[in-house]
Amino acid sequence: MGYFDLTGRRALILGAGGIGGAIAKGVAEAGAEVVIADANSGNLSKAKAEAESVGGTIHAIHTEIKNRDDVAELYKQVDETLPEIDLSVNSIGLNEYSTALETTEAQWNKVFTGFLDNVFWSNQQAGKRFVAQKRGKIVNIASISGIVVNSGFSYAAAKAGVIQLTRALALEWISSGVFVNSISPGTVYTALTKDFVDVPEVKKDIESGIPIGRIGQPDDIVGTAIYLLSRASDYVVGQNIIVDGGYTVR
Ligand SMILES: NC(=O)c1ccc[n+]([C@@H]2O[C@H](COP(=O)([O-])OP(=O)(O)OC[C@H]3O[C@@H](n4cnc5c(N)ncnc54)[C@H](O)[C@@H]3O)[C@@H](O)[C@H]2O)c1
Repeated sequence: MGYFDLTGRRALILGAGGIGGAIAKGVAEAGAEVVIADANSGNLSKAKAEAESVGGTIHAIHTEIKNRDDVAELYKQVDETLPEIDLSVNSIGLNEYSTALETTEAQWNKVFTGFLDNVFWSNQQAGKRFVAQKRGKIVNIASISGIVVNSGFSYAAAKAGVIQLTRALALEWISSGVFVNSISPGTVYTALTKDFVDVPEVKKDIESGIPIGRIGQPDDIVGTAIYLLSRASDYVVGQNIIVDGGYTVR
């Protein structure tokens, strides 16, 4: 079996948007059977069609996660749809921006629930299964905003939380054969960034800060995800891999 081969593996990918959808296709192409879950039916069917176009087997679950119970319910449905998953990727996200002085409790909670709490509850559900079966790999999609501040303050804080959560869970579970790592993308062209990247001056400004000279595309994140889900990363524990065209190197 090749280093990056995912034949026989079973993956849940939470979030079928730009990055999650691209990862679903890549993981399916690498041989895994995939279940993808998202609140957006359009994104779900697009991701399903894309993964099927490369010969993958992919199931779609429509779910709108608001809390721990919703995540538990989702994993129950996953158990019925694709039992004994051993790979879990968390790639959900939403648009919410406010300044620190004006942020309301609702805005703060929206960002933290969406970007940190839901990731933890998903990690907990995956962790319960993976620790019991003594095998599994989890990849959380964090952000360079968890390291440098290039975004809203609450997003930055929540993403720093995802990176550190990843490290803490990795240490808790590695003795059971369960790997937890994260990926921190730089700016990637998706529904989350489209509104400002589509403004030519803003695009130019962002690109001028990226040594490789262009904004990322969802496909740019896929190879790192496959690496972290495959046996190629069997000595990589609790790491956060930055994939940003060199932005944070400067
Ligand atoms: N695009 C970027 O520049 C960038 C950079 C760094 C990190 N990220 C991270 O990548 C992840 C994926 O973002 P993306 O850029 O692919 O955005 P996206 O909007 O294309 O995808 C996000 C998906 O999450 C789904 N979603 C959101 N909340 C949900 C919920 N509560 N229940 C079910 N589904 C829900 C949405 O329906 C959407 O399909 C996010 O965590 C984001 O913070 C993105």
